[in-house]
Amino acid sequence: MRILSGLQPTGRLHLGNYFGMMKPALALQHEGEAYYFIADYHSLTVIQNAAELRDNVTNLAIDFLACGLDPEKAVFFRQSDVPEHTELAWILSCVCPMPMLENCHSYKDKAARGIIPSAGLFTYPVLMAADILIYDSDIVPVGKDQKQHVEVCRDLAVKLNLIFGEGLLKVPQSRIREETAVVPGLDGQKMSKSYGNTLGLFEEEKALKKKIMGIKTDSTGVEEPKETEGNTILQFYKLMAGADEVAAMEADFRKGGIGYGELKKRLLEKTWAYFAEAREKRAQIVAQKGYVEDVLQAGAAKARAVARKTMDRVRAAVGLK
Ligand code: ADP
Ligand code: TRP
Repeated sequence: MRILSGLQPTGRLHLGNYFGMMKPALALQHEGEAYYFIADYHSLTVIQNAAELRDNVTNLAIDFLACGLDPEKAVFFRQSDVPEHTELAWILSCVCPMPMLENCHSYKDKAARGIIPSAGLFTYPVLMAADILIYDSDIVPVGKDQKQHVEVCRDLAVKLNLIFGEGLLKVPQSRIREETAVVPGLDGQKMSKSYGNTLGLFEEEKALKKKIMGIKTDSTGVEEPKETEGNTILQFYKLMAGADEVAAMEADFRKGGIGYGELKKRLLEKTWAYFAEAREKRAQIVAQKGYVEDVLQAGAAKARAVARKTMDRVRAAVGLK
């Protein structure tokens, strides 16, 4: 089974990325042949500053490795080191009906948020489809917001197969972990860097404290019982705490006598402890000069060999040679 997923290097990793995509993806690296990449071509739709893009790529690669990506198990690479992705994207775009892209929420949402509505942003799902199809992927672990893009990918694979021959491209499945499908942000909306409501995995302790202690709560007094349903503190806590700890926290909400300040402190301690190992690993990786680039280059060599094979097959099938 081949598993593939990508993450855009558009900013620092947050809890939404981690629980929505990275954690399930890391668990899957032990279940099959995993291909994970940093989607830097995609990020050009948003980041148009070379130094910033490079910096983000490096940081995301370090974060991925610090969180447990095992380069001996998974093929880990930078998208732009395998330029065949863009070639397949072109071929797919020639069979992609415009309305299919016009239907995509992500383009509409991003344009509404002020991102330049470029042709690249519009055709982005086609490039994403190429990312997936070029590796004959079986499973694509992503957050809920990417589900539609995987549907587009499946439709394009079926279409290309219909025109140029059954079995030319493998039709993949998305895999979404329902329980953490959408991680809320500090303000209760979906956590997203574009809403400025994120909790970062590798934030300084002081910054993390400021954010957690600043979570908006209702005016229920210290002594009063507190509503557990939809409470942001509890929702975050549930992502990281064990079942017993969650039950104890919920009991404390219900019985009253404990203020939100105290409950937030407990969340802060949990968050800091939960990522302690990853923080330590991150520091070790940063200290090993050249390590990250070596990992990415080795991954790219493996990925490119597979991508070239697919392109040979596709080129032949569509008549490009
Ligand atoms: P952002 O919304 O911060 O820009 P991205 O769009 O770069 O995040 O998302 C990267 C990956 O993380 C995707 O697979 C996406 O589904 C997942 N993801 C992002 N935010 C969340 C969230 N709040 N809950 C669950 N998954 C998320
Ligand atoms: N579009 C994804 C995101 O914004 C990133 C991505 C690009 C991706 N190509 C992919 C995810 C292929 C899974 C498979 O998060």
